Amino acid sequence: MHKIRKAIFPVGGLATRFLPATKALPKEMLPIVDKPLIEYAVEEAHAAGIEELLFVTGRGKTVIEDHFDSHHELDATLTARGKADLLHSINRITRPGQLAYIRQMEPLGLGHAVWCARNFVCNEPFAVILADDLILSDTPPLAELIQTYEETGGNVVSITEVPRAQISRYGIVDPGESDGNIVEILDLVEKPNPKTAPSNLAIVGRYVLQPRVMDYLGASTVNAGSEIQLTDSMAKMIGDAPFHGLHLRGRRFDCGTKVGFLEANIAFALQRADMANEVRVRIESLLTEHQATDLPIESDNH
Ligand code: G1P
Repeated sequence: MHKIRKAIFPVGGLATRFLPATKALPKEMLPIVDKPLIEYAVEEAHAAGIEELLFVTGRGKTVIEDHFDSHHELDATLTARGKADLLHSINRITRPGQLAYIRQMEPLGLGHAVWCARNFVCNEPFAVILADDLILSDTPPLAELIQTYEETGGNVVSITEVPRAQISRYGIVDPGESDGNIVEILDLVEKPNPKTAPSNLAIVGRYVLQPRVMDYLGASTVNAGSEIQLTDSMAKMIGDAPFHGLHLRGRRFDCGTKVGFLEANIAFALQRADMANEVRVRIESLLTEHQATDLPIESDNH
């Protein structure tokens, strides 16, 4: 069995939901407390033993490259000021030669972004991490996925139950037999109508895939205005090789939505010993102030 050494990070999206914040700043650079979303994803890859990381970027995303580069002026200033912790925090994450960047060139969706990485993958099974699915967990989710892959072979994706109202936002699994947390996948549908969806088990943005998916992605065509879906090409691999879903352990935050992003910020702040108490007090006081306002709850889409 081939070890999973490579991971793809699709970061080329336009993130129109977060405009105007994302007009010049990539969504992946939005901070959760004091660290950009993409850095959590890179840390998770490292924790899973990933050795080579590829960012599939687009126009306006060079700030991601700068973020993972060294910054000698800042290093010198922090050294002079004796700020060893901060110095460590900006330099610990990557080593030279570990990261690569390619441009997607056309905004043709997640499937197209993954296909752009075909030469990087070079016939090895690989991981995909979607940085806007942020997971708070004791065990790194990608590491668990890879462990499952080492048992089952084939393809493995992270899955979680979602409320019925959210089914049309995600790739949804048609589940077969289960063995503990591992579910056989019989089919996959991208963003189905809840009325016809095969379940409420949604794909979370963590994948271990066989390189054959690149052939299916390469053969995909799109109509004007539409996108190449990764889910469609994954569905074509069912039957070629084992295909399983692994129930996610831990709490997932969909940082592709504004409410999910805010929720993640609060949850991660509440995990931090240096601020949890103060954050709790301030949230409680805000809630008391706003108790009187009886605003309707809108869909969590924004
Ligand atoms: C993508 C995938 C979808 C998956 C989701 C997880 O959707 O296409 O199958 O469930 O990520 O976050 P997107 O968020 O790009 O709409």
